[in-house]
This record gives sequence, C-alpha cells and structure tokens, in this order.
Amino acid sequence: MDTFEVIRTRLSVSTFSEKQVPKEVKREVLEAARLSPSGLNSQHWRFILVDGRENLKKLAEMSTTGKWVAGANFAVVVLTNAEYPFHLLDAGQAIMSMMLAAWNRGVASRIFTGFDQKSMREFLELEQNEEAQRLSITVVVGFGYPTKKIIGKKNRLPLEKIAFYQRYGQPITQALS
Ligand SMILES: Cc1cc2nc3c(=O)[nH]c(=O)nc-3n(C[C@H](O)[C@H](O)[C@H](O)COP(=O)(O)O)c2cc1C
Repeated sequence: MDTFEVIRTRLSVSTFSEKQVPKEVKREVLEAARLSPSGLNSQHWRFILVDGRENLKKLAEMSTTGKWVAGANFAVVVLTNAEYPFHLLDAGQAIMSMMLAAWNRGVASRIFTGFDQKSMREFLELEQNEEAQRLSITVVVGFGYPTKKIIGKKNRLPLEKIAFYQRYGQPITQALS
C-alpha cells in the first residue's frame, strides 16, 4: 500500500478475528520498531512480544483501558527508559511505525496506556533482569486482523483548525491553494 494510504486508512480497532497473524508479519512489525528513530539514537526502548490466549487474557486482567487485548492475536509491550526526557516521543515513533507496518499487511491495532504497572512488571519478569529494572512499561499495542471491514473514516478536526501559515492563527489555505 502507498504510505499515505496506510496513514489515511489506519484506525484503532478493538475487536479482532481468530485468524492467526503469520510470523513474518510479526517480525515485520518488530523490525519496524527496531528501525524507528530515537533521540540521540539511544535505542533505549525494548519490546516484548506476547501471544497465546492465556497470556493475552492476563494482560487484559492487568489493564484498565485495554480489556479488548484479550481478543487480540498478539501484543507488543513497549518499555522505555524514563531517564531520557524524550522517551515518550521515542515510544510514539516506534508505536506508529509498528501500527503502520501492521496495517500495510492488513493487521489492525490499538494501544492502551492504562494498566497496573506493578503487576505487569511481575508478569513480564522485569525485576529479574538488571537492564529491565531501569525500564518503564510505557504502552501495550494489541494487533490482529479486524473482524469488520475498515472504511478508514476518521473523526478529526479540519486542517484549517489545527494548522497555520507563518504565524499562529493565520489561515493555512494561503499556503496550500
Ligand atoms: C497516547 C494514546 C493513548 C491511548 N490510550 C488508549 C487506551 O488506553 N485504550 C484504548 O482503547 N485506546 C487508546 N488509544 C486509542 C485512541 O483512543 C485512538 O487512537 C483515537 O480515538 C483515535 O482513533 P483512531 O486511532 O481510530 O484514529 C490511545 C491513543 C493514543 C495516541
């Protein structure tokens, strides 16, 4: 798919089909994360692939805003080092790379940020690893084939409301028409 088309049509999905996502697509999703830029090229992020119905149900139990992950085909937990002031930007770059790479293969996704950090740390065995002890769980991304046809219609503000030309408040239309 054309890059802009992938961006235009991607939507957050929270109901997924039972169809298995092939391993090569999972690899591509993780590669997309690995290839993402990070501040100072610090690459402090780490990614944990979680799959299997029981594991995904456990993630859902620990979540407050992502119960839907129980029905995903797989999830990627994104860990970042919060000592970098830009760590959330880095997470955002990697997350969007993964979501777009997945959607390019017809695999939908959604993120959640509401979860019990302590129990998820235990579940992922972060405290058993010296490197992981310094990392925070930033987000969980759930992936899977959608159950419904995605029409790509987004609920967004118009461009004129959010983008300006030269100075805040000056209409962008001057520059684009
Ligand atoms: C920073 C951020 C946090 C989000 N947290 C959650 C969340 O905790 N649970 C959830 O179901 N969706 C979450 N979402 C998904 C948004 O609700 C969704 O992206 C937004 O409504 C726009 O819809 P779209 O992605 O379909 O275009 C989050 C999205 C972002 C960017």
